Amino acid sequence: MWVQLAVGLCCLLLGCQVQGRAASLRRANDDATGRCQYTFTVDSPAESSCSQAEEEGVRTRLALLEALVSRLLGEQGGAVGEAGLRRTAEEEEEVSQLQQDKERLNRQVQDLQRRLGELTVETEQLRSRPCHQPQPPHLSTADSDPAFQLGSGAFQEMKAELSEVPAPPQIQQGQNQAATGTTTQTTSSFSGCGVLESVQLPVTHRKADSITGKYGAWFQDPEPVGQPYGPKTVWRIDAVGKEVKQLFAYEDMEQLIRGFPMKVLPLPEAVESTGATVYRGSLYYQRRLSRTLIRYDVNTESVAARVDLPHAGFHGQHPYSWGGYTDIDLAVDERGLWAIYSTSKAKGAIVVAKLDHESLEVTKTWETNIRKNTVANGFMVCGRLYTVASYSLPNTTVNYMFDTDTNQSRAISIPFSNRYHYNSMIDYNPGNKKLYAWDNYHMVTYDIQLAESDSIP
Ligand SMILES: *[C@@H]1O[C@H](CO)[C@@H](O)[C@H](O)[C@H]1NC(C)=O
Ligand SMILES: *[C@@H]1O[C@H](CO)[C@@H](O)[C@H](O)[C@H]1NC(C)=O
Repeated sequence: MWVQLAVGLCCLLLGCQVQGRAASLRRANDDATGRCQYTFTVDSPAESSCSQAEEEGVRTRLALLEALVSRLLGEQGGAVGEAGLRRTAEEEEEVSQLQQDKERLNRQVQDLQRRLGELTVETEQLRSRPCHQPQPPHLSTADSDPAFQLGSGAFQEMKAELSEVPAPPQIQQGQNQAATGTTTQTTSSFSGCGVLESVQLPVTHRKADSITGKYGAWFQDPEPVGQPYGPKTVWRIDAVGKEVKQLFAYEDMEQLIRGFPMKVLPLPEAVESTGATVYRGSLYYQRRLSRTLIRYDVNTESVAARVDLPHAGFHGQHPYSWGGYTDIDLAVDERGLWAIYSTSKAKGAIVVAKLDHESLEVTKTWETNIRKNTVANGFMVCGRLYTVASYSLPNTTVNYMFDTDTNQSRAISIPFSNRYHYNSMIDYNPGNKKLYAWDNYHMVTYDIQLAESDSIP
């Protein structure tokens, strides 16, 4: 009964619109503000368009309403006859018209809600899309390599502090000239294991195309196993990005220079920074945001070992001076796999651990007196740790050596060149006795000379 009353009231209030054009909802674009404008129009009963006939209509409806009210009152007072509950034909018409209007308005509301939903999604997409990074003008614009597109978003936070050690004496002229070609004639005939005597100037092999290659890591396996990868295969990880999970494989140096990898291996866990290395058919790397070391078998493309490096600092606790979460640096030399890191017990001094390359278990550790955050990088050669003084000075030095046979460390000064002023990775390859480095988008190698231990002053 109340429903009928309500219907009647509506009839009355809507007046002429119900019979005529009814209420309307309109949407228009306001280009100036970029907003949508919604207009809800209700014709005024006072307008001249409300004709005499419509006034009659209103009167009729008023009468109907009165009848309804009296029926209601009658119901409250006692029994109401069946006939009283029956709607008149006029009432039925009004109700069905109102029903139609209601349905039409509902459809419009649904339409508007759907549009609103679409706009919300669109807004979210626009918001989450990163702004385009303008490429520094000195970068190559010919991005021939599809694998290196922007997209992974944020960069690893830089913690680099320019705490440089004074520039060493100039690199000797003789060495510079010898190293300008692609290969260098080594004057020393010594080919066994020994101490580092000199490092030639870098040879540039490839420049990364996109911002994701500002820093990274690249290698050739000194002792490859299995197929199809061999000693010529070049491995590369562009390390800029939050989720670094791609390992690029190039058939050889020529393919690296041409730019298209033979394969992109998807890594199961993201890589932290630039400390990875490749050895005996596996990529060894530190898992992002952890002290977990992962051995990823490149032939089976699966994780072969996963171990936490005990007590190792990670994610900015004990990085090299460059920063960039270089807390754990894996290295390979003639004796196998090593980790260069620090612990809270060592209070930031470099700890060297010898690792079993199969299981990744630590077989032995050494604590040095070299503060990790004062040096730019480190690498192992013949069981000795070497550190580089600066990652940015073009003329810097290999400044310390720690011998795991004698537990002795000593200051040295072997000239070393950061040609592109931002050296983020240095690894030794005992297979060809070269240092591999990633210097400000550039993949470079350095020839080195070793000498018998006691021939060094
Ligand atoms: C660095 O070494 C290069 C090559 O030996 C030399 O030409 C240059 O002048 C040196 N720069 C500084 C700042 O010592
Ligand atoms: C060097 O240190 C390691 C570990 O601290 C120890 O096991 C080894 O005996 C030491 N060697 C020498 C020659 O002092």
